[in-house]
Amino acid sequence: MQLEFTLNGMVRRLDVEPDETLLDVVRERLGLTGTKEGCDEGECGACTVLIDDRPVDSCIYPALAVEGLAVRTVEALSAPDGALSHLQRAFVDRAAVQCGFCTPGLLMTLTALLESNQNPSSSEVDDAIAGNICRCTGYSAIREAVRRAVEEVSA
Ligand code: FES
Ligand code: FES
Repeated sequence: MQLEFTLNGMVRRLDVEPDETLLDVVRERLGLTGTKEGCDEGECGACTVLIDDRPVDSCIYPALAVEGLAVRTVEALSAPDGALSHLQRAFVDRAAVQCGFCTPGLLMTLTALLESNQNPSSSEVDDAIAGNICRCTGYSAIREAVRRAVEEVSA
């Protein structure tokens, strides 16, 4: 079936099978491998992308359901010249990345949070990332990175 949607600002058209997920399309069909496949069951958040600015688990999201919608992946966060977003830079500076497998999903979830709430409380950050599992960092560095990004944007 024909699918047309916007991916990171570019209109994409392709034929997809009814059972293909958005993760399949993004990674396998369109080659954007920044989005990670973890549990493949909607439990870990590694595959998080934004659909019309809302985070979703792309591993359980039918590709055909993004018809006419705007999808963003981690590849869209940096500037065209490669400059990292405030949040990406804060993750690096605060050592919020270890193995990095959870990082793209966390960045997308937190980008959506910061776009809708420029100064989230600690509990709002924790609520936002409740569906993103990180097995390495213990989350404190991630929380610090969010705070650093908020401070930089508001400085
Ligand atoms: Fe999608 Fe784990 S890979 S939630
Ligand atoms: Fe390894 Fe989060 S940095 S799972």
